[in-house]
Amino acid sequence: MPTAPDPDALTALLPALACPHCGGALTATPAGVACDDGHAFDRARQGYLALHAGVARAAGDTAAMVAARERVLAAGHLDGTLAALVAAATAAAGSAPAGPVLDVGAGTGAHLAAVLDALPARHGLAVDVAAPALRRAARAHPRALAVGGDAWQGLPVASGSMSLALVVLAPRPGAELARVLRPQGRLVVVTPEAAHLQELREPLGMLAIGEAKPAALDQALAPHLTRVEDAVHEEVRHLPRSDAVDLALSGPTGHHRAREELAAAAAALPDPVAVTLSLRLTTWRPTTDPPSPPAR
Ligand SMILES: C[S@@+](CC[C@H](N)C(=O)[O-])C[C@H]1O[C@@H](n2cnc3c(N)ncnc32)[C@H](O)[C@@H]1O
Repeated sequence: MPTAPDPDALTALLPALACPHCGGALTATPAGVACDDGHAFDRARQGYLALHAGVARAAGDTAAMVAARERVLAAGHLDGTLAALVAAATAAAGSAPAGPVLDVGAGTGAHLAAVLDALPARHGLAVDVAAPALRRAARAHPRALAVGGDAWQGLPVASGSMSLALVVLAPRPGAELARVLRPQGRLVVVTPEAAHLQELREPLGMLAIGEAKPAALDQALAPHLTRVEDAVHEEVRHLPRSDAVDLALSGPTGHHRAREELAAAAAALPDPVAVTLSLRLTTWRPTTDPPSPPAR
């Protein structure tokens, strides 16, 4: 159930934010936040802080894609994924120092909210480039703050400020993720496996999963981070056809196909339709961290 943002979330998370123009510290102003160099950023009426450095290069998800994601989440189809993420994140938090949780490409903020529920002493920062996502993320959890920013242009986050970072089916700027983590901090990444939504790909004309190869993940992260955990969560769900359409729409295919097109193609599918969810959860630590002492 979405909740109103706690005004204290901004106070708690302010030291973890950085000016997207100069990297300086931010302080609260009546309209939002500003740095000492005079760069000022407004808090939107819906509660999120727009910390964009100029015009974002990434388009982010459309309103239709975010609404589809919200329906898929509300129907409980991603509950198993959510539970697997919470388990990975709480295990990772056990090895990480105290501090906030960052979710990059947070979408509706549902994943961050589930992780914050499991980590009651932490606050969380939901970063996304898309306004329809930010409007929802701003109300996702009382201990969360939603912040607008383009992950590919640099995260508006202070260096070494985050205990834990999450990236769920979203951009993975490796150098930036390593920069914002505290020493011994942890990053948990969720990526699709080749079998993910395999029953829908051909019938709905979905994009192939280019990033399903472990090499693609390593290419993005391995120069800056070291993999410490690796697991696959796989399940088959029986979805009403319209929910299968939402699932397709809420991923990269949503940038290329309208809901009507996907719904027309889905008419040939059984109703309900069996759909495989297959996601890899990997946990990483900054490579610059000293290695753990050898076991005695
Ligand atoms: C497939 S959705 C996943 C959302 C959420 N993590 C989830 O699993 O429900 C990808 C998200 O990444 C966001 N995104 C895409 N490019 C981005 C960028 N350059 N910076 C920040 N967010 C971005 C999109 O707007 C979208 O909300």
